Amino acid sequence: MSQPRINPSILAADFVNMQSELARIAAADFVHVDVMDNHFVPNLTFGPQMVERIQQTSPVPLDVHLMIDDPDRWAPGYAELGAASVTFHLEAAREPLALARRLREIGARAGVAIKPGTPAEALYDLLGEVDQFLVMTVEPGFGGQSFMPETMPKLRALAAEARRRGTEVWLQVDGGISLSTIGQAAEAGADTFVAGSAVFGAEDPERAITALRDAAATHRH
Ligand code: DX5
Ligand code: ZN
Repeated sequence: MSQPRINPSILAADFVNMQSELARIAAADFVHVDVMDNHFVPNLTFGPQMVERIQQTSPVPLDVHLMIDDPDRWAPGYAELGAASVTFHLEAAREPLALARRLREIGARAGVAIKPGTPAEALYDLLGEVDQFLVMTVEPGFGGQSFMPETMPKLRALAAEARRRGTEVWLQVDGGISLSTIGQAAEAGADTFVAGSAVFGAEDPERAITALRDAAATHRH
């Protein structure tokens, strides 16, 4: 397995000082950008205009997480503005396979996310057609929530199914990831870790990123 990837979530950053906040996480693999529409989740962040400026400003590639209704309509625009990775929710998509193909065609990595209540098997038929699965480890909508260990069997199932089919897919976790929880997620098969408060809440975000990466590497499965 390659080095674990650490993707800080700017949901925990100071929105008014985005440029300097982005400069603090230059050691990260990607910057995780949470787009929320107040419909799919009960919270609102920003849309394509803001994400485009982040794309122009960020020292690292963008990992966009769309917590929005109708991703079939909106997700391609994020790939077109240059985001390296675009992840939409399975629960919100009308035609997930067609949408994943479209994102790849535009040149982005395609990701599909599931909420804690959605079973892993719902993703199996997308193996080979997507670059990343995101297993939410909290209910999407807010930063700073507690990690849900009961989601770990889904990572194990996805890792096993990908192995069985001989397909490569990144397994991402998002929500409540910290030094005390990242080990269990890595052990269950995750290789890509989103961390909001654990990185932006730290005095030295760069050191926090390195510590998280090291902790994941010692527990990788
Ligand atoms: C939650 C978002 C997460 C959030 C994670 O709905 O998708 O990306 O920012 O924040 P922490 O790491 O603080 O749980
Ligand atoms: Zn997220």
